[in-house]
Amino acid sequence: MRISLHQACEFLKKGHVVGIPTETVYGLAACLDQSQAIAEIFTLKGRPANNPLIVHLATAEEIKDYAVSIPESFFALADAFWPGPLTLVLPAIPEKIPSIVRAELPTAAFRVPSHSLARQLLQQTGPLVMPSANLSGRPSSTCAEHVEEDFGDGFPVLDGGECLKGLESTILFWQDEKWMIIRLGAIAPEAFGLILGYDPEISLGEGNAQPICPGQMYRHYAPRARLFLIQKFSLAIKGLVIGFDDRNYSSASRFISLGNSSDPETASQRLYAILRELDQEGIDQAWVDIDLPDEGLWLTFKERLFKASSSLT
Ligand code: TXA
Ligand code: MG
Repeated sequence: MRISLHQACEFLKKGHVVGIPTETVYGLAACLDQSQAIAEIFTLKGRPANNPLIVHLATAEEIKDYAVSIPESFFALADAFWPGPLTLVLPAIPEKIPSIVRAELPTAAFRVPSHSLARQLLQQTGPLVMPSANLSGRPSSTCAEHVEEDFGDGFPVLDGGECLKGLESTILFWQDEKWMIIRLGAIAPEAFGLILGYDPEISLGEGNAQPICPGQMYRHYAPRARLFLIQKFSLAIKGLVIGFDDRNYSSASRFISLGNSSDPETASQRLYAILRELDQEGIDQAWVDIDLPDEGLWLTFKERLFKASSSLT
């Protein structure tokens, strides 16, 4: 059910959960002071209680009300990337952020989104907690139709069109006087060096390491179709190929385009819609061309595909 900005604001203030657009992906929003609605988010998504939510703010200055100690570099990052697809994790003032939001961690994640509808809403409602608006384990939603697909036609969604980025925010975690990247996202990892004076370490909890970002433990972004990720494409592949306009897949039975192989922004923006399309059409397998550089936004793009294709539970 599509609702207006005014209705979204009213619903949220009354303690309802609403789907709203951001520049990364759609979020499932509740007001920070509505604990019932926050609990409902976990139920609606089928989300484990030990996976915390991001607190979305209208401005960077609001952080002072919620974080215990704020490093100088926080404001340098906020100046450079907010409003935008960056999430920063800091020690939280426990009384200000309910423990259900933090999954009982001493820290909380914060983001100031740039989508104009999200910003207008935040100015009227105050802080909103929101995870991506998808059932746990499904690809995130990059348009209002995806939200309705997962939560039903009657679920209230503020329609803000297609998300500009199509991938979730990059998450940075403050530890030992340094920032580290705990989730790859819509900002390329190389973008931080110039602002911070060092390249933040990337710590995604691979191998045996316990991830700092709890969400990294779970299988994510998964279509029902089996995905075969191909590093060196052979022309003999005959099935459905997801690849690039400027490459040749002459034996493929069908081709779905991610745009041009020099354009990670377009590929990222399209990725989740394509994964959802596979499910809609009942496709059981597809081959994805991942012969792409190990840098920039491609790192995030490939990480999401690895997760979508893995058998992790
Ligand atoms: O782009 C985005 O970040 C979107 C839009 C809606 O803002 N939101 C999003 O939320 O991706 P979600 O819940 O799908 O992912 C949030 C991630 C989870 O992996 C969670 O574990 C991590 O943020 N997170 C939240 N609070 C944290 C904390 N205190 N410490 C470490 N990781 C945290
Ligand atoms: Mg998510």
